[in-house]
Amino acid sequence: MKTYLITGGAGFIGSNFIHHLFEQYKKDILVINLDALTYAGNIENLRDITKYENYKFIKGCICDKSIVNKIFETHDIDYIVNFAAESHVDRSVKDPTIFVKTNVLGVQVLLDIAKKYWTEENRFKKDKKFLQISTDEVYGSLGEVGFFTEKTSLDPHNPYAASKAGGDLLVKAYYDTYKMPVMISRCSNNYGPYQFPEKLIPLVIQNCLTGKKIPVYGDGKNIRDWLYVRDHCNALGIILEKGRAGEVYNIGGNNERQNIEVINTIIQFLQHLLPPRDIRRKRVSKELITYISDRKGHDRRYAINAEKIKRELAWFSSTDFDEGMKHTILWYLENENWLENIVNGEYATYYKKMYGNL
Ligand code: NAD
Ligand code: DAU
Repeated sequence: MKTYLITGGAGFIGSNFIHHLFEQYKKDILVINLDALTYAGNIENLRDITKYENYKFIKGCICDKSIVNKIFETHDIDYIVNFAAESHVDRSVKDPTIFVKTNVLGVQVLLDIAKKYWTEENRFKKDKKFLQISTDEVYGSLGEVGFFTEKTSLDPHNPYAASKAGGDLLVKAYYDTYKMPVMISRCSNNYGPYQFPEKLIPLVIQNCLTGKKIPVYGDGKNIRDWLYVRDHCNALGIILEKGRAGEVYNIGGNNERQNIEVINTIIQFLQHLLPPRDIRRKRVSKELITYISDRKGHDRRYAINAEKIKRELAWFSSTDFDEGMKHTILWYLENENWLENIVNGEYATYYKKMYGNL
């Protein structure tokens, strides 16, 4: 029986990971989800999980030492998986402050309190593990060729990426200095159910459904490597089980696409997936695509070399991009209330500030 402290579990990847844990282990786990419920946190993502007695939700910030202390005082935590972060690059370009607080200071608070409760003896005897969920963005940007490996130097280009790199360096320092049983995973762009619609894929789906323009930054040829979120969760489960302390593991989808290709795929799939009598089917078209000015510091290409996790832990991404995309679009079509509740809230103000009257 393992006790998991999942931070940021009400967000996109964290909630998918909690679903993954309950599907894998059912009753043999205790999951504590610590989440501040920022604009990106949504308790609805875990509606079907709240019924489990072995699931506890705590609303709180990872920077709040008293809350984190209390959790350790009252539970024998085995695994910490830190998803909690400010995660959107565009918001970090507008105001980096909160990014530094959560993504750097928050990580240090978690590490420090874990160090206090995980005594040197029980860290190893009881197989304690701290997994920091990081990103390929810490490596910077690639030209037309090459891939990021775990040995690639850190070279972040935007405040979000810099704050994640700061968090990673603290994690590494707690291994080098205190031999804390930490690991870092660095994944590429995730897509799938429960992703907040500020991110490219759900934003395009939402705009198509409401007949809004699709904003494309720059020439639309920036490349991302898309990873289906459940493949990612699967990799994280394996890293927790078999990963080695002090190690970094890259996780990639092996699905490099230009943004404009991704957008065209969504348009094409929606035209087929919307029921023939749905009036929205007609207005989903390439005419919605609108090129706008580029994101500041926009990284050109990300591409992950995921050979290490394949070789050492026998994980590889298994979801075909078109299949994952169809599944994702169908999920958004079946959960339009989920999307509507979000876009009618803080998102409307954000959208206006970000895209004006587009
Ligand atoms: P998200 O924005 O959807 O969710 C973040 C969650 O963290 C939310 O539930 C939010 O309420 C919570 N949170 C924010 N600040 C907090 C704080 N101070 N204390 C407690 N909870 C807090 O993010 P996501 O896309 O699910 O990303 C999860 C993690 O994965 C992040 O660390 C991100 O950097 C990393 N990541 C994401 C992607 C991606 O494509 N989405 C790719 C690589 C890495
Ligand atoms: O690579 C991993 C990272 O992927 C994570 O660390 C981040 O948390 C996550 O948000 C994501 O960052 P990106 O900036 O790559 O994702 P986003 O969905 O914001 O943008 C994907 C690409 O699409 C990027 O090149 C910018 C472009 N874009 C995005 C939006 C929102 C547009 O052209 N128009 C848009 O409106």
